[in-house]
Amino acid sequence: MSNAASAAEGRGSTSKLVYFFGALGGMLFGYDTGVISGAILFISPDLGLTPFLEGLVVASLLLGAAIGAACAGPLSDRLGRRNLILIAAVTFTVGAIGAALSPNVAVLVLFRVVLGLAVGAAALIVPLYLSEIAPTEIRGAISSLNQLMITVGILLAFIVNALLADSGAWRWMLGLAVIPSLILLVGMYFMPETPRWLVSRGRENEARDVLLQSRTEEEAENEIREIKEVEREEEGGLRELAAPWVRPALIVAIGLAVFQQIIGINTIIYYAPTTLKNVGYGDAAAIYANLIIGAVNVLMTLVAIRIIDSTGRKPLLLGGLVGMIVSLTVLGLSTLLLSEPSSPTDTVAIITLLCLAGFIISFAATWGPTVWVVLPEVLPLRIRGTAMGVAIFLHWIANFIVSQTFPSLLAALGPGIPFLGYAVIGVLAFIFVSAFVTETKGRSLEEIEADLQERASFASG
Ligand code: BGC
Repeated sequence: MSNAASAAEGRGSTSKLVYFFGALGGMLFGYDTGVISGAILFISPDLGLTPFLEGLVVASLLLGAAIGAACAGPLSDRLGRRNLILIAAVTFTVGAIGAALSPNVAVLVLFRVVLGLAVGAAALIVPLYLSEIAPTEIRGAISSLNQLMITVGILLAFIVNALLADSGAWRWMLGLAVIPSLILLVGMYFMPETPRWLVSRGRENEARDVLLQSRTEEEAENEIREIKEVEREEEGGLRELAAPWVRPALIVAIGLAVFQQIIGINTIIYYAPTTLKNVGYGDAAAIYANLIIGAVNVLMTLVAIRIIDSTGRKPLLLGGLVGMIVSLTVLGLSTLLLSEPSSPTDTVAIITLLCLAGFIISFAATWGPTVWVVLPEVLPLRIRGTAMGVAIFLHWIANFIVSQTFPSLLAALGPGIPFLGYAVIGVLAFIFVSAFVTETKGRSLEEIEADLQERASFASG
């Protein structure tokens, strides 16, 4: 092996750890959002919850996440990406222990909000950290690691739920999240700050050291020069969010973050067992089918990671929508037009499972990871943290609204009309992506930003 090759390999193994710990926050995000679907079945009788309080226990985390995302943006610009991940790790740990030991529903809701703060912060900071630390050629794949870890977290939660279902040990279901929280806390302590943030604080030597862990000297120097050029041209600050040249990027970021939720993904992730029971499945069959959904979610995310840097972001977003719209339409029409099922072998029950799987396959291979990859890519550096905060805040509010309303819609209307509604939203998302999203694959973050400036000045003059 040549010297250059072995040096590259050495750099590779150091940087892999950075990616792993960076993405562990995504796993906690997945676990803490996924675990409640099973745990709530046992919390309810134990703490004597009314349906309203049940909803509050599930949704309080989503509200906490909205607040976490809103604060994490400005905080990550001020304190640094790494420090904020450390703060989120402490919050995850406190939230997991507190929720597991809650003596009553008030304390439980409080700690679900605390956990939500960490989930919301992680949803913002992990993709930001990964995209700023990864070299251009593999940035898509590395940033998708976040989504892979989210899906692994969800699957782990589904497995834990299934294993503990017999004993109904909901405190353990919630409390086990403390293990990855502590791994994140300890691991992140040894990981570096991102070079882009360091340069923006005038700490160029430290930035160079970090870059040399995953790039050659020449690549590192070029990248520092590029980052500094972009820095010089910008003014920064909250005010700039309203600047005309930033607006197209902001519209893309907000649109993608919100559409990813209102297409209805979490009606499946949080409520697939409920929907399956609605079309004739028993409890056990619904829980096992849920495991299949969790596993398909992970597998298809792996496929996305393999193809995202070659296929590009936009074709994935559009292709995924076609799959989701078809699945939702077939699901909606079959439950509306065919006779009501009473067992899992009835036609509608089979079609429902196939369509839920078809939706998850289409989402996981495309929108799941792509949105988290594109968000930090399209937003200009100086406002990246703040602007992602705005987009991800709205993402959680959208999640909250969909997750709160779905059970009532299902109870009142059955699955047909709600799923056709999500299909219509899918069509709107298709129009949005076609009109507003530009391709970002294979371009450095600085090139994407220069292009944005150029197009804005072309449009205004
Ligand atoms: C979404 C989550 C969703 C998960 C499913 C993520 O990208 O933001 O809301 O539960 O994907 O894998």
